[in-house]
Amino acid sequence: MSEWQAIAGLKIAIDGPSGSGKGTVAKLLAQEIGLTVLDTGLLYRLTAAVALDQGLDLKDELAVAAMVNDMLANLTWSSAGIRYQDEEWADRLRTEAVGAAASTVAAMPKVREGLLSLQQQLACAGCIMDGRDIGTVVLADAPAKFFLTASIRERARRRWTQLKGLGHADDLDAVLLDLKKRDQRDRERQHAPLVQAVDAIAIDSTTLRVDEVVDRMLGILARRELIKAVL
Ligand code: DC
Repeated sequence: MSEWQAIAGLKIAIDGPSGSGKGTVAKLLAQEIGLTVLDTGLLYRLTAAVALDQGLDLKDELAVAAMVNDMLANLTWSSAGIRYQDEEWADRLRTEAVGAAASTVAAMPKVREGLLSLQQQLACAGCIMDGRDIGTVVLADAPAKFFLTASIRERARRRWTQLKGLGHADDLDAVLLDLKKRDQRDRERQHAPLVQAVDAIAIDSTTLRVDEVVDRMLGILARRELIKAVL
């Protein structure tokens, strides 16, 4: 039994760059307050992986956007992961190659538009949603928004440790370079770039443990009466 309970229908947006710890923090916070988590990165990663599987040109926005429409008809996305054509895809979407391709398709306005209403529909019942444009676009009306950051070195170190754990050997400098490129693409794109929402609270996790970040969030949510202590 968690010590805290979110008020009914609560939506929490968590945005930040790759490696800022959004996913880990979102899962722990969700357990603490009894909400589900939706990782929107999975949608962009699946889009990239299916486009690559189908041999589409990743520069051809119209072709990728048309593929997204078909993909949505065969997709189940939940806190448990993402299923496409009756197969679980989440694990095979975690590679660097898919991540880099995801950031390319994520820069396409028609792809983002195609994925928007599914995200908004699933959030209706209340959830923690993590991504890049959740506080600014997808859940612009969320009563709680966090923007997680960490230094580029620390983010690269975390990503590298994660990749090693998955058996993908890569050197730290290559991971750092890849992160820099991805940051630049995510921040500089014209449509829904990675930017802190004006009403989001920034938390720098460079020197904080995950539980310390979550404690800060719990304090803020409790002060705003968005979560209640369970007696
Ligand atoms: O969070 P992630 O690494 O799984 O995201 C993969 C890519 O998708 C990343 O380059 C940014 C993009 N993305 C996005 O543009 N908007 C989101 N809401 C989520 C992810």
